[in-house]
Amino acid sequence: MARLKVGVLISGRGSNLQALIDAAADPAYPAEIALVVSNVAGVQGLDRAGRAGIPTAVIGHKGFPDRPSFEAALTTALRSAGVAFVCLAGFMRVLTATFVEAWRDRLINIHPSLLPAFPGLHTHERAIAAGVRFGGCTVHYVRADVDAGPIIVQAAVPIAPNDTAETLAARVLEAEHRAFPLALRLIAEGRARVVGDSVRIAGAVAPAGFALNPPG
Ligand code: GRF
Repeated sequence: MARLKVGVLISGRGSNLQALIDAAADPAYPAEIALVVSNVAGVQGLDRAGRAGIPTAVIGHKGFPDRPSFEAALTTALRSAGVAFVCLAGFMRVLTATFVEAWRDRLINIHPSLLPAFPGLHTHERAIAAGVRFGGCTVHYVRADVDAGPIIVQAAVPIAPNDTAETLAARVLEAEHRAFPLALRLIAEGRARVVGDSVRIAGAVAPAGFALNPPG
């Protein structure tokens, strides 16, 4: 079966991109990365893509007068690479409702908290300050509201009494690196169905530590 052609948008380190690259290195994985786009030049994620032989583009948002023209350039690059599905992997630009609707249900994001708790930045500091006992990560379809949208995969990570934002971030990142390839695989296999505000997953058993909604 043809693999789903994916574009990955990044702004930096690209460790989640690396997790997707590593997953897609297996020919049995149902998605392939056709293009990596960064809005920032010279970032580590671009090197990761280059090492894997994946085409890259730098589309700097500062080169555009407004968000719509920046996003139009993103869409042009993605379309010309044959991309059918987009993953946001540490992409630090807020997307307009127009872009989000144009890619509706073909656009997912990874966020380092158990959404809907702690959307936005500094999730780990805020989770520790709030005294919650679990952090975690969420892969979700993107909607116009930032860090909101139907949830595909979540994993909870216990917060230890002596955790700092850094130690917690490192532990959550390990979960992220498993959650993102898992979510993309379920979608590329056609198992994920958006029903209202939630996602139903058919015919898949969640690996230990990960949670998926039943088909419903
Ligand atoms: C990750 O924690 C991701 O959840 C968040 O931004 C960070 C990106 O890290 N959206 P990396 O660039 O994938 O290493």
